[in-house]
Amino acid sequence: MADELILREVHGEVGLVRLNRPAALNALSLPLMNELGDALAAWDSDPAIGAMVITGNNRAFAAGADIKEMADATSVQMLTHDHIGGWDRVAEMHKPVIAAVSGYALGGGCELAMMCDMIIASETAVFGQPEINLGVMPGAGGTQRMVRAVGKSITMEMVLNDRRLSAEEAYQFGLISRIYPVENYLDEALRIAGEIAARAPVAVRLAKESVNKAFEMSLSQGLAFERRNFYFLFSSDDQKEGMDAFANKRKPEWKGK
Ligand code: CAA
Repeated sequence: MADELILREVHGEVGLVRLNRPAALNALSLPLMNELGDALAAWDSDPAIGAMVITGNNRAFAAGADIKEMADATSVQMLTHDHIGGWDRVAEMHKPVIAAVSGYALGGGCELAMMCDMIIASETAVFGQPEINLGVMPGAGGTQRMVRAVGKSITMEMVLNDRRLSAEEAYQFGLISRIYPVENYLDEALRIAGEIAARAPVAVRLAKESVNKAFEMSLSQGLAFERRNFYFLFSSDDQKEGMDAFANKRKPEWKGK
């Protein structure tokens, strides 16, 4: 329905959210982001779901935070309402979240995609942090996650001078993991999410957590964190099942225990 800010679909073990403000190029208003966070959180605790995908439409993943919603705000209002604070929920999910991006991923749209665990794009995707044109700057991770993905010099060009990256550039620079034709980028994202959802859930969860810790910790702390998660998995039924299945040349059956 046209009035719904997001559309939820379940494809096998994958939860799909379609951002649904096409007339506003999926501008990320507070109500939309609250609904997105609620949808992801519900699936994160639902054993029938193993991975999630966030997408927009072919023209726009999302053209940023809702500029009209913020235009008259004061800094005190932005601070006391913590305008962007609720967005952090996207990055706090335990299950893998994939961004399937076509068309514009600008400002908060680019930042939302970067909160996900991987970005799969169509050939038409455009990534940018154009907040400087509005007299502001990125506020949902654009200066932090972008620099970790593509390095300082390109990030500076994007943030200071509105350089936009094509899908091909974003792939070359390591921002995204796959490019597909616009006709099937979403199907491919759902396929990859479905493959991950069919894997050993506890190992997927701890592996995701460990990769993400690389952005927060020193190398030695991260290595220790990884090692502990690796050892911990030897108390899971799935580790016994996976190694026995390998030794006996059969397909493992994961229990998530
Ligand atoms: N917020 C609110 N409305 C938006 C929007 C946004 N971020 N982006 C697009 N829209 C609206 C437009 O106002 C327009 O609405 P009307 O038809 O009611 O006028 C509609 O979407 C279609 O947009 P355009 O007519 O501008 O379409 P276009 O094809 O000519 O241009 C565009 C497309 C280049 C993406 C252009 O819309 C644009 O530059 N959008 C803003 C991009 C931007 O600055 N994003 C950063 C936002 S701030 C932010 O995100 C802060 C943060 O870090 C969290």
